[in-house]
Amino acid sequence: MIIDGKEISNRIKEEVKREIQEFGYKPRLAILMAGDDESSKVYANSKVKACESVGIEAKVYYFSEKEEDKFFDTLEKLNEDKDTHGIMIEMPLPKGFDVDKVYDTINPYKDVDCISNYNMGRLFAGKPLFVPCTPKAIIHILENTGVDLEGKHAVVIGRSNILGKPVAKLLLDKNCTVTVCHSKTKDLAYHTKQADVLVVAAGKMNLVRGDMVKEGVVLIDAGINVHEGKIYGDADFESIKDKASYITPVPGGVGPVTTAMILKNTLEAFKYAVKSL
Ligand SMILES: NC(=O)c1ccc[n+]([C@@H]2O[C@H](COP(=O)([O-])OP(=O)(O)OC[C@H]3O[C@@H](n4cnc5c(N)ncnc54)[C@H](OP(=O)(O)O)[C@@H]3O)[C@@H](O)[C@H]2O)c1
Repeated sequence: MIIDGKEISNRIKEEVKREIQEFGYKPRLAILMAGDDESSKVYANSKVKACESVGIEAKVYYFSEKEEDKFFDTLEKLNEDKDTHGIMIEMPLPKGFDVDKVYDTINPYKDVDCISNYNMGRLFAGKPLFVPCTPKAIIHILENTGVDLEGKHAVVIGRSNILGKPVAKLLLDKNCTVTVCHSKTKDLAYHTKQADVLVVAAGKMNLVRGDMVKEGVVLIDAGINVHEGKIYGDADFESIKDKASYITPVPGGVGPVTTAMILKNTLEAFKYAVKSL
């Protein structure tokens, strides 16, 4: 079955919108981006549109590659600003920007994509303030299938801090037995063939093909690869779709649900702010 990420996303957005209407006050999300990477601009603007669609006010703060000091001044001001509830940093930041300083500076209660070291620690300690948006989307999609995850063998390809590692941790929390693969893994197919649940998050087109998965696999493809102007995932959709019990397409799978989770986490940040009043 092909998972409809847009449909799942719309349902989450409706819930978020309804809750915001009940509050009668608009949460505010600040998006900071530096440099002039075109795709970062597109991502930032699409987040603004998504926010507007549910009643969240979003503002993008642009900085040039040379404005690192101004970037951190603004981040510190937004950390303290009572009217700003969520903060997101559009990655990647320009070369030379102190990314570790970003992780240590962002206010953890506004850190809606869970990038700070503090929030990462809380996530792995099982006491998260926020769950990072893409991993949260992946777990939501899996839960939405109705498949009982307990005792399943989940294989995650990718071990980045923003994606692979948190997904593996969240699957452990669901009582899966988890294998994490990466670029140094020997015989990737040996591992993928054992997966009941396979999460691919490597950023390598056609990394997983039909002959590498078992019948009935639940395949979640988080990869985004642009090839000849089109977007592809990491899995070869055509050769896997008839073998998989569930599969996410790219585009239209994990991506839209991730966007919905940004909105959901912004609402959570807003609730933290309301609680602290
Ligand atoms: N859908 C969404 O909303 C969303 C959000 C964020 C990211 N993404 C996409 O998800 C993908 C991963 O993102 P990321 O930020 O996690 O990327 P990343 O930081 O580059 O990490 C990629 C991971 O994949 C592993 N890897 C690379 N080549 C491999 C191979 N041939 N075999 C096995 N593992 C391999 C790397 O291993 P090493 O650790 O050994 O280098 C690394 O752990 C990208 O395509 C990105 O665009 C999608």
